[in-house]
Amino acid sequence: MTAATTAPDYVKNKKLAAWVAEVAQLTQPERIVWCDGSQAEYDRLCAEMVASGMLIKLNEKKRPGCFLARSDPDDVARMEDRTFVCSKNKEDAGPNNNWVAPDEMRATLTKISDGCMRGRTMYVIPFSMGPLGSHISHIGVELTDSPYVVVSMRVMTRIGRAVLDQLADGFFVPCLHSVGAPLQPGEKDVVWPSNKQHKFICHFPDEKLIWSFGSGYGGNALLGKKCFALRIASIMAREQGWLAEHMLILGIQPPGGKKHYIAAAFPSACGKTNLAMLIPPKELVGWKVTTIGEDIAWIKPGKDGRLYAINPEAGAFGVAPGTSEFTNPNCLAALNKNTIFTNVAMTPDGDVWWEGLSQTPPMNLTDWQGKSWDPDGDKPAAHPNARFTVAASQIPCIDPQWEDPAGVPISAFMFGGRRTTTVPLVTEAKDWTHGVYMAATMASETTAASVGKMGVVRRDPFAMLPFCGYHFGDYFNHWLKVGKSLTKEPKIFAVNWFRRDEHGKFMWPGFGDNMRVLKWIIERCEGKGGAAETPVGMMPRFEDIELKGIAGFSKKAFDELTRVDRDLWKAEVKDHERLFGELTARMPAEMIEQRRQLEQAL
Ligand code: GTP
Ligand code: SPV
Ligand code: MN
Repeated sequence: MTAATTAPDYVKNKKLAAWVAEVAQLTQPERIVWCDGSQAEYDRLCAEMVASGMLIKLNEKKRPGCFLARSDPDDVARMEDRTFVCSKNKEDAGPNNNWVAPDEMRATLTKISDGCMRGRTMYVIPFSMGPLGSHISHIGVELTDSPYVVVSMRVMTRIGRAVLDQLADGFFVPCLHSVGAPLQPGEKDVVWPSNKQHKFICHFPDEKLIWSFGSGYGGNALLGKKCFALRIASIMAREQGWLAEHMLILGIQPPGGKKHYIAAAFPSACGKTNLAMLIPPKELVGWKVTTIGEDIAWIKPGKDGRLYAINPEAGAFGVAPGTSEFTNPNCLAALNKNTIFTNVAMTPDGDVWWEGLSQTPPMNLTDWQGKSWDPDGDKPAAHPNARFTVAASQIPCIDPQWEDPAGVPISAFMFGGRRTTTVPLVTEAKDWTHGVYMAATMASETTAASVGKMGVVRRDPFAMLPFCGYHFGDYFNHWLKVGKSLTKEPKIFAVNWFRRDEHGKFMWPGFGDNMRVLKWIIERCEGKGGAAETPVGMMPRFEDIELKGIAGFSKKAFDELTRVDRDLWKAEVKDHERLFGELTARMPAEMIEQRRQLEQAL
């Protein structure tokens, strides 16, 4: 039996009604559910998943309203080699994207999607990225056969009837998702359905369509996040004159001073969530940090010549391992209730655990695959890309203005990667163009957030390598153009928390102590802080940065942490040249000139 495909009366969007009917015709779900976004609907879906084994209810006393999901071991992270941008012209996707011609990809997806939802429910999720009705927000509709995706989307975005009302007959981004695991009549479902043979995460820029098949995990399946809010939105942003970025947004209130907002781009699992929820060290009396967002920023020029940013998301899908009372107490507090954990370890009394949560693991843990965990073995208890899904409203340091439809004004941009060597603690760009160069040439070591080799240094311009939906040369040009349109452009800084000494030890304490760098950045924005010029940009001297209270941190350590090794930098600039060579057809002349100047300065 297949579902009736007529949309409910209240659906006023003809394109949406027609698209849902067309997808149902192809995928053959057993029933269609139009999500209303209510708590009752969320509770019902969670109960159904507990019954099917897809969710485990955690200890109601210790973690009220919390669940654990265990994914298939082959479905644990984003898959960059299965991600495609199917623009009409291959050149528009750029060498930074996998490309297949749209007609060819459509044919492939249509073929494997024939009957792919058989025996399952197709959920229709209208969602808003950004506060409903904000001039910076946009609406999408995800069709999915995964109830895990529905409950996650309810936490991560604003979903339901209110969104349909706002949408009326207007524009939406169609997001089609299937785990690609149809059920035969009477067939028992597996705990985490996915498709072992085919996985595709596809973007069609010309129609602004997203089509994802075969995976149920994170950014592969919660299509509002990377697929819409970054890949498709980056294309919309270029067409419409704004920015869609892989950035946290935080507020900083200096003691007795004016509040500033900073947006910062770091690659996946490189510290955005940590920085966004930072607690200043006690030596920095009176400084306060608040969170607007921890992964994505949508940023628009305002009439006053400044940039204004919103967090398009409504929740966090954050890395669990490493989150602790010592590294990120605000985040840990947010996870006390109403949280969905995926691929973490479980204690015998139904609580969660992951590497770094405590120094000594509790006894008798069950690992992320549901097996009894051997503390002396070489396998981690939680998967390195285990994550939590939690509403932003539960973050204790959430900014009172986090849902302000007007957005918040940005004073500075920060760009940072995971670099063991070469890149100093903090560098200030000489101007916007130099800042765009610093961001365009940043690199980072790869992490567990995506499938593939870990710890390999690669160029990751603007922390957008896996997320920019078009040619990086055009993207750099767009940033230059936006900068020129502003009268009060944010200052731009490069940072690196991850430099190590010859023993492999981090040279900078990081986490809360990153506030010391933020303080200097705010002072620079206010025209106050001191700095010295170096070949790579402006840098604080020992006396310019508040270091009081960091145990054993000497002037010698500071000098080493901020040292510009000319030989390493010459090799660095050679690699910038290699990157620019790959993008050469669309590389802005200003960037090539910046590279020449840097080479000369070295
Ligand atoms: P995505 O959600 O994947 O985009 O990542 P994210 O940038 O939000 O990463 P997150 O903040 O979750 O970073 C996780 C990892 O970075 C953990 O291993 C942390 O321990 C580590 N980390 C974060 N901040 C610091 C820091 O200041 N110093 C050091 N050494 N490690 C850090
Ligand atoms: C990232 O990889 O940058 C994430 C996690 O934020 S995911 O949503 O899975 O892409
Ligand atoms: Mn991210």
